[in-house]
Amino acid sequence: MKVALGVSGGIAAYKAAEIVRLLQERGIRVQVIMTRAAQEFVRPLTFAALSGEKVITDMFAGGEGNSSGNVEPNIDSAVEHIAVAQSIDALLVAPATADVLAKFAQGMATDFLTTLYLATTAPVVVAPAMNVNMWNHPATQANLEILRKRGVRMVKPGEGYLACGMTGPGRLAENDVIIAALMEALGASQDLVRETILVTAGPTREKVDPVRYLTNRSSGRMGYALAEAASRRGARVLLVSGPTALTPPGAAEVTQIESAEQMRQAVLKLLPEATIVIKTAAVSDYRPKSTASQKIKRTGPMSLELEPTVDILAEIVRHKDSQIVVGFAAETQNALENARKKLASKSLDAIVVNDVSREGIGFDSDRNAVTIITHDSVVDVPETTKWEVAQRVLDEVVRLRQRILSTAPNVRA
Ligand SMILES: Cc1cc2nc3c(=O)[nH]c(=O)nc-3n(C[C@H](O)[C@H](O)[C@H](O)COP(=O)(O)O)c2cc1C
Repeated sequence: MKVALGVSGGIAAYKAAEIVRLLQERGIRVQVIMTRAAQEFVRPLTFAALSGEKVITDMFAGGEGNSSGNVEPNIDSAVEHIAVAQSIDALLVAPATADVLAKFAQGMATDFLTTLYLATTAPVVVAPAMNVNMWNHPATQANLEILRKRGVRMVKPGEGYLACGMTGPGRLAENDVIIAALMEALGASQDLVRETILVTAGPTREKVDPVRYLTNRSSGRMGYALAEAASRRGARVLLVSGPTALTPPGAAEVTQIESAEQMRQAVLKLLPEATIVIKTAAVSDYRPKSTASQKIKRTGPMSLELEPTVDILAEIVRHKDSQIVVGFAAETQNALENARKKLASKSLDAIVVNDVSREGIGFDSDRNAVTIITHDSVVDVPETTKWEVAQRVLDEVVRLRQRILSTAPNVRA
């Protein structure tokens, strides 16, 4: 995961150095962005050395050197704010000055940080720190209210003796409180703690001969993002994965498979343990009717006879008990219409539709845009990271679970 840490120009800017370390301890990459004023308080090199990444200090110039002292030429500077905006899982601003809050609230894009705020669709967390009168000023409070309404998470400053000599609210919140708010924004709230989620991911391979197979473009990233996000939200995760180049989340119990038939067997074996099934795998619809035992030689035109594989989703629905079942549908035409039919015909609880005909999202990409359809709702998730899509899918799963529990209060699925 990657977080952009915006450091703005307040006395507490030095405290952000510790935040970099705490995030790295959690395996999170940190891209530090400093405002011009912040650089009056702390040298960018401090953050470059700690984060191991160049620090962005200006909209138009190159970044400060990393720990090895290299200053990389900033050849992408013209669009770097967009590149950063699209690559991050969250934007944290700590400390956030009254000035930065005002600019965020007004949508002013006068430097890298304020432009990034407008350009990103990732969750935003601000940790304000300032003089008590600046904090209490109606202008600051009004700006905070605007940001709150817009979904920006605010970590309230603490009270106490301030660097300006006054006492009251305005101290940067403690680091553990800031990190907790960020982790929650990253989907680390523990709302899946009692669930066992079976996630299928990646493509399958259907053997043609000992060296050839039929497969598809699925990278497995959507399923792995869901497995990671569910695990961070407290679920036990059973991941059944086709061949991918990805590293599975550490906490997941992984079953590696190759063919659709192996996936079917693994899924049916694990199904009784699961309370939720999310099927993102792009399972081959067809496989060669027979597999050659020796490598097929080139002799002239040849044709492959294919037969359909078993519909795993239908099997899950047939064998399931009270599990919530979520399917994914990769469509190239009439995406919503086809998905609605699938939701009804396969007795699913939810279906996540992505239009894989769109360039740059879906298959083999870090980004996706989906529509989550349940029997009583349609949620559009505009183009964003697969991590954010995973969070939104899990939000819907939590909502479905709450609905089930509220209609059958004595039964726990
Ligand atoms: C010594 C000193 C300390 C400051 N501390 C703060 C502070 O804690 N919070 C704040 O909002 N502004 C503080 N300011 C004012 C900001 O630095 C000023 O508003 C600046 O324009 C903020 O720029 P930025 O928001 O782009 O970082 C301080 C200024 C000085 C000179």
